[in-house]
Amino acid sequence: MSTKSVTLKSVTKTFIDDQNKFVHAVSDVNLVIKQGEFATLLGPSGCGKTTTLRMVAGFEEISTGDIFFGEENVNKISPNKRDCTMVFQSYALFPHMTVFENVAYGLKIKKLPKEEIERKVDDIFAIMNLTEHKTRMPSQLSGGQQQRVALARALVMEPGVLLFDEPLSNLDAKLRLLMRDEIRRLQKRLGITAIYVTHDQSEAMSMSDKVIVMNKGKIEQIGTPQEIYQRPKTKFVADFIGTANFINGKISKVTEDELFIQTEDSVLKAIRHGDFSVDDAIQMVVRPEAIHLLEEESGEIKGKVVKSVFMGQTQDYEVEYNGVNLQVTVHNPMGERIYQVGEIVSLHFPRESLHVI
Ligand SMILES: Nc1ncnc2c1ncn2[C@@H]1O[C@H](COP(=O)(O)OP(=O)(O)OP(=O)(O)O)[C@@H](O)[C@H]1O
Ligand SMILES: [Mg+2]
Repeated sequence: MSTKSVTLKSVTKTFIDDQNKFVHAVSDVNLVIKQGEFATLLGPSGCGKTTTLRMVAGFEEISTGDIFFGEENVNKISPNKRDCTMVFQSYALFPHMTVFENVAYGLKIKKLPKEEIERKVDDIFAIMNLTEHKTRMPSQLSGGQQQRVALARALVMEPGVLLFDEPLSNLDAKLRLLMRDEIRRLQKRLGITAIYVTHDQSEAMSMSDKVIVMNKGKIEQIGTPQEIYQRPKTKFVADFIGTANFINGKISKVTEDELFIQTEDSVLKAIRHGDFSVDDAIQMVVRPEAIHLLEEESGEIKGKVVKSVFMGQTQDYEVEYNGVNLQVTVHNPMGERIYQVGEIVSLHFPRESLHVI
């Protein structure tokens, strides 16, 4: 199998809607997805994920820019000649064909010899534990099983690039988790380049080598799940991925590796990433689980508990500080002191927990 890298260079898509107005669905997208990489397009509804994927597949013509599979410019290559297959949210199985026939269909169209088709389909069924279902009709399968068949149908073609558009959104929560692992396992095992579209951040975080966060047709940030979570470049990314607290401040001192930030009533220290100057007005992003609550006055700031909820694995707090309610999560609260609403607590921000944007 020859899997391929995918490169988008200044790709733009402008639709003209029913009232003759321009819709800038995708604006100047630049992107490299390496061979064998699992990349996810993540963003809110309408941000241009599906449009981007459809341009890669060739279902949608691009307005300007270039798309490459490996070194080859595929702008002019029709979808059925591009070396990629797409798995959809609706499984789109042929209802009048058995599971075997559904999966074999594409290979038949390619006119492969019968024995080869049987061998390839049986191999995929074995990998995916579908062998026992091969003589059934799609209507005799559960939603999850149908989606596995749809995945098998895509994989059996041994595409250079595998595309997914929210393939799990019709499944229940538990099955989604199982299918995440299954897709990831198969993709790694077969080493196929995959582009996956979702608006579910936990799906993106748990499956991807690379996450591409989109907003209003543009890329906000590209990075590993850790980079996106720990070092969001913009407020949008910080807010969209997980829960984020924002604290306003002003840079009071810059050293080689540290920033000192003046808030209304204290000075916080953060690790420096990027260029900042004294007096820059900035925002700090801090995740709820990164803040430490202390009884004694050893934290950098003081706040008042306005919410305290036991969640089992965690104790979730809201602590008011200078008119902002900070979300604080304490893991494994069993051995910890539980603070009640109305108590004044001291908050400690480890240097590495504060990220300045
Ligand atoms: N054929 C079309 N004609 C006009 N506008 C379109 C067309 N297809 C998509 N759009 C618009 O382009 C924008 C991006 O749509 P797209 O389907 O790519 O979003 P998405 O990120 O996949 O959203 P969702 O998460 O809801 O699936 C939207 O504003 C949408 O209304
Ligand atoms: Mg979509």
